[in-house]
Amino acid sequence: MREFLFAPSLLGADPLNISGSIESLGNNFDWLHLDIMDGHFVRNLSFGPDFSRALRKKYPDAFIDAHLMTDNLETVLPLFIESGASSITVHAETEPHLLHATLSTIKNAGIKAGIALCPPTPVTQVATVLDMADLVLVMSVTPGFGGQKFIESSLEKVRELAGIRAAMKHSYVIEIDGGINENNITRVILSGCDVVVMGSAVFREKNPALWLEGLRVKIKEAMRDFDRA
Ligand code: DX5
Ligand code: ZN
Repeated sequence: MREFLFAPSLLGADPLNISGSIESLGNNFDWLHLDIMDGHFVRNLSFGPDFSRALRKKYPDAFIDAHLMTDNLETVLPLFIESGASSITVHAETEPHLLHATLSTIKNAGIKAGIALCPPTPVTQVATVLDMADLVLVMSVTPGFGGQKFIESSLEKVRELAGIRAAMKHSYVIEIDGGINENNITRVILSGCDVVVMGSAVFREKNPALWLEGLRVKIKEAMRDFDRA
């Protein structure tokens, strides 16, 4: 059976007790998704490199999945390369002419390199860098805020990316971010996603660990049925 990973988004955590929120996940998560917003590329502000560094110190084995929704990568990228992040994903829309060099910089630092696509951005825009990406993140809401409604057409992009990966023998994982909940996660995974980011759906639960555990069982059952059909 194909593997899938849960990446709870700390944007949905309790801002006054983030470590409490992380502990509420138990061992039932795979990555910690960290949204970086600059108030310019998106209309919100969130975490900085010191926060990422503090996470790394407290959770030395965690996979910290940094999602940079920022412009000005010349300044911002080095700060996150030094911050202990396990993967750094930059937006295809930010400095598109420099994307190849940006991904190289991340990879040369020994960090997994990802490309994120906003909902209106087609896959064709990143065709020439897919061979070097470790991860492609499909935004399924307008970046900037948690708690938005899932954009259905994102699944088409996921299927397209899965098709290109198979045809071209690329190795990126496909991540989806925004509006995922218990009602749509199964079809999101069945459409080809490997990593699912969830913010509000996880952290609004009274017992996120139990909820994630149950969700994993439900998805595995659906995958078994799908494989049998
Ligand atoms: C939105 C962020 C997401 C956000 C998802 O710009 O990239 O990671 O936390 O939150 P939900 O799951 O609530 O849509
Ligand atoms: Zn994100």
